[in-house]
Amino acid sequence: MRLKTWVALGLSVVFLAGCGKHGGTGGIKIGLSLDTLKEERWQHDRDLFVARAKELGAEVLVQAADSDDARQNSQAENLITQGVNVLVVVPHNGKSSATIVESAHKAGVQVIAYDRLIRDCDLDLYVTLDPTEVGVQQADYAVKHVPKGNYVLIGGAPTDNNAVLVRNGQMSVLQPYIDRGDIKIVTNQWAKDWMPVEALKIMENSLTKNKNQVDAVVVSNDGTAGGVVQALNEQKLAGKVLVTGQDADLAACQRIVQGTQSMTVYKPLALLANKAAELAVAMAKKQPLTDKTTKLNNGKIDVPSILLPTVQVDKANLDSTVIADGFQKKEDVYKK
Ligand code: GAL
Repeated sequence: MRLKTWVALGLSVVFLAGCGKHGGTGGIKIGLSLDTLKEERWQHDRDLFVARAKELGAEVLVQAADSDDARQNSQAENLITQGVNVLVVVPHNGKSSATIVESAHKAGVQVIAYDRLIRDCDLDLYVTLDPTEVGVQQADYAVKHVPKGNYVLIGGAPTDNNAVLVRNGQMSVLQPYIDRGDIKIVTNQWAKDWMPVEALKIMENSLTKNKNQVDAVVVSNDGTAGGVVQALNEQKLAGKVLVTGQDADLAACQRIVQGTQSMTVYKPLALLANKAAELAVAMAKKQPLTDKTTKLNNGKIDVPSILLPTVQVDKANLDSTVIADGFQKKEDVYKK
C-alpha cells in the first residue's frame, strides 16, 4: 500500500474517533420520537426536521408511536439505547411521557419537547408554535364573524397539553362574550386523540340536542373540523355555520375554498422544524443556547421555551400565506 493511502486511512480513523458520542461535527445522532403521523402536518414536521438536521451533518432516527403511550416509551428507550445524543419528543401524553425525560437524563441525553409540552419533569427545552395564540386566533375569528349566538366548543385530545393551551386561548377571547350573555356555550367537549370520528359524534349529538340551533363551532384542529363539517353536512348546514380549525391541512384548505370550513390557523412548520433541528444539533455539540426564551411552567419547573408565531387564515388570505409559502400547492387546494 502506498504511503498516501496509509496517511489517508490513518486520518479517517482519527476523524471517526473524533466523532464519538459527544463531539465532532459528524457522528451526531438525534432521536425524533413522534406521537403519530396520522395528521398530515406531522409528516411535514418529520421531513423538514430530518432535512435540516442532515444539512447540519446530523443523522436522525425517527419513531412514531400511533398514539400509544407504552409504545412511545419503549421506542424512546430504544432510541436512547441506540446512542442518540439528543432526544426530540412530540409526546402523545403530556404527563406520562415524563418518564421518557427521566430515562434520557439517566443516560446523559437531553430532551427537547417539540410542539407539545412534557409536564412534571426536568425538561431541557420546549419549542413550539404558540398554542395559546392558536386558540386566540380561532376564537377571535369566530367572535368577529358571529358575535352572538349558540357556540359549540370541541377541544383536542385531553392528554395533549396543547389542547389545554388552545382552549385557554379560546376562552380568553370568548369569556367576556359569555359573561355579557351574547354567546351561549351549548356543548363543550374534547375529542379523544384528536380523532375526527369523535368530533363527528360530538357534533351530531349537539345538533340533535339543540335542534340544529348552532351558530359557530370552535374546533381546535383541522382533522376534527373535518368530522364537524361531515355532521353539519348531514343536516344540510355545512357552509351555514362557522367552523374553525388549525394546521392548514390540504383537506381543510379545500373546505375553506368550498366554504364549508371558515378558517384555519396556519402553523409555518418549517420555522418550527428548522429551529428544533438547529437547537438539537447545537445541544448535541454542547453549545450554549443563544435564542431568546420565555419560561413556561410544566408543573415542576419553568421550562425555557421558544414560542413561534402562527397565522389566522381564511379564504381571503389563503393564497398569500399557505400557498405563497409553498406549504400547500395552489392546484391541489383549488382542485374541483
Ligand atoms: C396538536 C397540535 C396540532 C394538531 C394536533 C393533532 O398538539 O398542536 O397542530 O396537529 O396536535 O395532532
